[in-house]
Amino acid sequence: MARKLKWASLLLVAVMLILSGCGAKEETAANEAKTGLSADEISNEAFKDLFPLQYDSYLKNEEMEDTKYSGSEKRSKFDHDKEPYLPILFNGYGFATEYNEDRGHIYALEDVREIARITDKSVGSCLTCKSTAVPHMIEEMGDDYWGGNFNEEIWPKAESMGHSPIGCSDCHDPETMDLRVTRPSFIKGMEAQGIDMSNPTKNDMRNYVCGQCHVEYYFAADNSEVTYPWDNGFKPEDMYEYYETVAKENGFNQDWIHNVSGTPILKAQHPDFETHMTGPHGEAGVTCSDCHMPYERADGKKKISSHHWQSPLKTMEQSCATCHSNRDLDELEERVMDIQETHMEALHKAEDVSITSHYYVNKMITSGVSENKIKAAQEHVRKGQWFWDIVAAESAAGFHNPQGAMDTLKMSSEESFAAIKLATEELVKKGVNIEELDKEIEKVKKAVYEEVDNFKKKDLATNDYFPAQQPK
Ligand code: HEC
Ligand code: HEC
Ligand code: HEC
Ligand code: HEC
Repeated sequence: MARKLKWASLLLVAVMLILSGCGAKEETAANEAKTGLSADEISNEAFKDLFPLQYDSYLKNEEMEDTKYSGSEKRSKFDHDKEPYLPILFNGYGFATEYNEDRGHIYALEDVREIARITDKSVGSCLTCKSTAVPHMIEEMGDDYWGGNFNEEIWPKAESMGHSPIGCSDCHDPETMDLRVTRPSFIKGMEAQGIDMSNPTKNDMRNYVCGQCHVEYYFAADNSEVTYPWDNGFKPEDMYEYYETVAKENGFNQDWIHNVSGTPILKAQHPDFETHMTGPHGEAGVTCSDCHMPYERADGKKKISSHHWQSPLKTMEQSCATCHSNRDLDELEERVMDIQETHMEALHKAEDVSITSHYYVNKMITSGVSENKIKAAQEHVRKGQWFWDIVAAESAAGFHNPQGAMDTLKMSSEESFAAIKLATEELVKKGVNIEELDKEIEKVKKAVYEEVDNFKKKDLATNDYFPAQQPK
């Protein structure tokens, strides 16, 4: 009871802070006058002279510094201290070739241009969360934008429009600086869940501007449109249900066929918004901007919202102490570390079981087990990987929803174990030596782990014992 009261008063303080705009915050053009900018302005530089403090803050997104589990250095996720086995889990898909940690917004265009996952077949949808030209291209081209050829058509067009990487116009109306949502997929996704988008509060908008990009999505089967699987809710099991029903009815079955187990797999993408909204802070009305855009004193006196989007662990004084004023910040940071360590341990366990399940199914295929038993095992493998990946792809190492992530990882392990159990029963009937199979799995994992060239890791995930299950 006392605990509840404590949180209730914390929340009240938070709400007051938000409503009063922190009291001392100076009035800016954002609150009243027109800026004189064109409604179509998409260049960050156009905002520079009008809002020098926010612009300077934005430029700090160039800084690169890692925290224990996150941060902003350009790093491969396949490095030994990160996730060296991902080339097995994503085998047969672009994410097994190159997959990097995220970094500052300012690098979004450079990074999408350089990543090996962009090929001559890539579509316009890949630019959707990177460039300020996207809303105008959608307006101009309609649904042709999504499926337009990335290299041939979409990128050159965005360049000729003078686009910026994730910029002011993505979140602000250039004429009034009011917050706005510029990605139509977000509005469609929210409305599909029955959420009224006609009149969001200012506090809602402090989540929504981020939720337009930091979400799970897929490309629709008919026109490659970026689509959010939210009809049934934000939880991983709600989204899975969507993929098994609505998405399948509309012709979308999988992102790719797994090269080890032949399973149709769904690739999860950074569901920071969904995870946060269903987590303790989201449910208490705390927003992304509270932690990731805290008020700071810019030129020694004026208070602005930080436009340096980074790990809040680097700014706990501004990001957390506003609400957790009764806590020692070192102790609070330790609490975050505890959450993250427990989380990463559970994540790696679930990942390991998922890997094993893929190889067991590979052995079912090469041992001549019946088609329907293989299909049944693949169902479990698909679910096991989904419930692992939707947690792994999230950006906060468990912090945005600690308990939710643990529950989801439990579901993942249960599904992967179910696949292994089913496979074992069938393999034993076929006289397969399970001990030898387990040894071969250890060998193949070791080979992937020890390969120093991250681009070659994927090629070592299959071998003579575990032949590839799809044409190269
Ligand atoms: C209560 C504070 C809080 C809220 C609210 C919050 N986050 Fe976070 N976020 C964190 C913490 C803490 C981390 C972990 C940072 C680390 O490990 O260094 C994090 C990590 C991240 C990262 C990865 C950062 C990096 O350095 O790579 C992203 C991206 C992110 N959050 C986006 C969001 C979005 C989008 C929302 C809203 C939908 C949100 N966060 C809401 C505290 C918060
Ligand atoms: C990812 C979304 C996003 C981007 C990109 C963005 N802003 Fe903001 N901006 C916000 C949010 C959220 C607030 C806080 C609004 C509130 O709560 O009233 C804000 C507030 C502001 C304010 C009001 C004063 C303040 O500091 O709170 C100004 C002015 C502003 N931004 C300018 C800019 C400029 C200039 C750029 C481009 C260099 C930019 N913003 C890019 C989300 C964004
Ligand atoms: C238009 C799409 C878009 C919007 C809007 C957006 N983001 Fe991002 N965000 C990205 C992309 C893309 C990246 C990764 C960029 C890269 O790695 O090149 C990213 C990276 C980040 C990071 C990681 C930075 C680091 O140091 O590793 C944080 C934190 C973050 N965003 C928070 C937010 C918050 C908070 C909001 C809302 C206020 C927001 N983003 C709005 C697309 C967006
Ligand atoms: C706008 C207010 C607000 C901000 C900002 C905020 N929190 Fe919280 N925090 C809350 C509320 C409210 C709860 C209680 C939620 C519940 O228990 O239902 C909470 C709960 C927590 C908890 C879980 C309870 C506990 O003590 O173990 C942790 C950990 C936590 N916050 C850490 C952080 C960190 C770290 C930051 C900064 C990155 C942060 N919070 C920023 C309001 C905030």
